[in-house]
Amino acid sequence: MLYDVIVVGSGIAGLFSALYAKKSGVKVAVLTKSNPFRSNSAVASGGINAVINISEYDSILNHINDTINGADGLINEKNISDMCHDAPEIIEELKEMGVGFDSDEEGNVLQRPFGGSKANRTCYIADRTGSAIVQKLLLECRNSGVHILSNHQFLNITKFHNKLSGVTVLRRRDSQVIALACKSLVLAGGGYAGIFRGHSTNSQESSGDIIAAALRAKMKLSNMEFVQFHPTTLINNGALISEAARGEGAYIVDETGRRFTDELQTRDKLSIEIAQHIIDGHKVYLDFRHMPAETIEKKLPSTQKIALSGAGIDITTELLQITPSAHYSIGGIWTRGDTSTDIDGVYACGECAMTGVHGANRLGGNSLLEGVYFGRLAGYEASKRAIRRDFLPIDYAIIDKEMRRIELIIEGENYFNVNAMRKSLGESLFQNVGVFRTEESLTNAFEYIGYLFKRQYGIHCVNKEKENNVELSSILEFKNALYIAEAMTLSALKREESRGVHHRKDFIKRDDKRFSSPSYVKLLDDFLFEITFENQMVGDLWYRLKKYLFH
Ligand code: FUM
Repeated sequence: MLYDVIVVGSGIAGLFSALYAKKSGVKVAVLTKSNPFRSNSAVASGGINAVINISEYDSILNHINDTINGADGLINEKNISDMCHDAPEIIEELKEMGVGFDSDEEGNVLQRPFGGSKANRTCYIADRTGSAIVQKLLLECRNSGVHILSNHQFLNITKFHNKLSGVTVLRRRDSQVIALACKSLVLAGGGYAGIFRGHSTNSQESSGDIIAAALRAKMKLSNMEFVQFHPTTLINNGALISEAARGEGAYIVDETGRRFTDELQTRDKLSIEIAQHIIDGHKVYLDFRHMPAETIEKKLPSTQKIALSGAGIDITTELLQITPSAHYSIGGIWTRGDTSTDIDGVYACGECAMTGVHGANRLGGNSLLEGVYFGRLAGYEASKRAIRRDFLPIDYAIIDKEMRRIELIIEGENYFNVNAMRKSLGESLFQNVGVFRTEESLTNAFEYIGYLFKRQYGIHCVNKEKENNVELSSILEFKNALYIAEAMTLSALKREESRGVHHRKDFIKRDDKRFSSPSYVKLLDDFLFEITFENQMVGDLWYRLKKYLFH
């Protein structure tokens, strides 16, 4: 099958890039592994940031400054400025699509406070903003003729003489590996916080499949050590209790009823305070009991349901125990300002991309905005390139090799329990590469990942059926998770300082002399990772010159 543009991922960034690519009249497909409502976009419930009324209280410059101040360095200032300037127009575009933001009687969009923002800047749909936007975008994509290939698990990028020729995909319906040719590829398949299984707000499907494929294609990753912990998640399973709760007035208290922290400080600082309070022997709770029943009913209906179904707690009368859990990957595939990557024709956007708009710590409400802003850009750039290019041949020997690998995983004799291994990886990462890190803890994690790496070859399907074999998908995800875990842990080991969400107990200060550069990861061969911190200016200038001369 041939597509001008293939988009991998059906979150907000992926769907927006598909829509924008389609505007140029090209043939576009979106690949999605499972249900779009399991994406992190759908989980991001609290809202999307934009200055929609410039006044004495807020301005676009304030949005830019808050984003920069919250980031703790490592930012791309131009990308932040462009994104914040486009935010008001993005809200208008979403409204035109029929996204029903909560509004007052005159129809003005309501905004709530979010951590690290000096004004009420987060537009919302109760506490289900992400899923409401995904729903509308899916409809728009279908109506505009984008092909949505669901139940298709992305495997690898294929190249012809080192140039993009297409992708290989596992068709889960019958476990066949198929090749799809494309002229441009947009990687928008989400992050990797799901590898902290048992301690993550993400579904376990968020195991960094796309980023691992980028590594295997010898693409450059950046800032992999920066994983944001969401301060308020359920103690027993990591389910997200949206920042909307605090935005609407919920308190954070300990077992004595004391409010020991500022609920609306940035997530990095709040997670550190809560995690330390728990280490010091306290229990930490969200307290909604002072809030009017009507606010909970209207603004926090999903939160109320999650608390009841996930913890058996009625938040109108009881305290809800919480803890920080892995929530968002700040690092990912290195990109330029136009979403291009270090493979010509491959673009990346959304959580799987490192765009520099979050620096070392992201503000709540800026991820949906990033998804829309860079999604639109990636779709535009990808289609523009596709119009001018021809398809390149696909090397079918690669498909054959991939098919044999899949068959071996299905047919081989199984020695280990993949679910148990995924859980123990998650536990080790949470203990050792969690809110707090040290050289010792990171080395422990690194050794444990190495141990699992060796055992992965003994993992095969117990269920040998080829039709929708969820075990097969889980094994492939676990193999990807190991690559991601190693890239993240090594980057965290190398960054001997604390900044943003990366808190080293053995290097407690930010060290701009040694670490004011983002980190970069490359896979040199199957097992050898290279981590560097060098300045990338020269390469970037060469790219801009080439683009100017040849496009
Ligand atoms: O807490 C939340 O609703 C999450 C939002 C986000 O990650 O931006």
